[in-house]
Amino acid sequence: MGVFERVARPAIMAVSRSDGLRRTAERLPVTRQVVRRFVPGETVRDALDSVAQLRNSDRLVSIDYLGEDVTDADAANTTVDAYLALLDALDRRDAPEAVRPLEVSLKLSALGQALPRDGEKIALENAHTICERAQRAGAWVTVDAEDHSTTDSTLSIVRDLRTEFGWLGTVLQAYLRRTEADCREFAVSGARIRLCKGAYDEPASVAYRDRDDVTASYLACLRVLMAGDGYPMVASHDPAIIEAVPALTREFSRGVDDFEYQMLYGIRDAEQRRLAAEGNHVRVYVPFGTQWYGYFVRRLAERPANLTFFLRALTERRH
Ligand code: FDA
Repeated sequence: MGVFERVARPAIMAVSRSDGLRRTAERLPVTRQVVRRFVPGETVRDALDSVAQLRNSDRLVSIDYLGEDVTDADAANTTVDAYLALLDALDRRDAPEAVRPLEVSLKLSALGQALPRDGEKIALENAHTICERAQRAGAWVTVDAEDHSTTDSTLSIVRDLRTEFGWLGTVLQAYLRRTEADCREFAVSGARIRLCKGAYDEPASVAYRDRDDVTASYLACLRVLMAGDGYPMVASHDPAIIEAVPALTREFSRGVDDFEYQMLYGIRDAEQRRLAAEGNHVRVYVPFGTQWYGYFVRRLAERPANLTFFLRALTERRH
């Protein structure tokens, strides 16, 4: 494991939990400029503008209203309202398609999952409300994966919702030791599984921490998904993973409509365009909203170059 993974990454992730630093960062105009690389804006209008640009270059989208870890039911209701307004703005009910071009991504912690009383039930009801509206609007929904202490609760909510909304997707994180088994359970007919490496700082007792081990686990999990009956969503920017996909799709006779690539807004844009130009489905995860701090810090923690870029922007501004 390199110095960055061992020392800097956990330190950056600890910063993500500091409210004081969050407030300072949110106020600095220079932070906002750097944030724009990963978060196209704060309003539904900003999100819709970037959706239009991505759709113009044949890419599909998944839109995330930023926010996580709400501490009261009112904040969870605000998140629900934001998603309902977004889905109304996206409404495509006249254009049913096998692979839906529009999707929203949800964090259950933003819907009340961690509330002390009935958190799981509240998050389930809130997610149900959003899924109903998405169904009417002709959009898909995928549930994001958060830190490992939430995985059992999240998958239990997803199982419940899938009995009514068979198209509901869920994220599985390849760095968790449990995930290959979860892939076996979820690789069933119609199930949309977004496989990512995982972005939280997890202990070795539950997660692989070495980069090569995480990549190996990812490829093993992806093989299970490709061999199964579901719809794999390959959420990674890693060339080693992208390059492994064509051989797997050939081996398991999957055509372009039977899986998709997914990447984050602002990361490897040229690669996203290249894959789309080859006729693949490529979905871009577009986060928007004012609560971008946690998401932004996870992007800094993924790559030393991002942190250097950010720190340079801060110091240049001071001189
Ligand atoms: P890796 O980190 O090895 O990166 C490979 C290459 O991609 C890098 O060398 C660089 O070129 C580029 N790259 C990657 N990250 C970059 C960055 N931040 N800035 C600039 N370049 C970068 N995680 C999670 O825990 N729960 C979730 O719900 C989701 N959801 C999700 C949805 C989608 C659509 C994607 C693509 C990713 C997620 N993630 C996530 C994040 C995921 O777990 C992971 O942290 C990142 O995708 C980075 O891992 P890679 O597989 O891209 O490889």
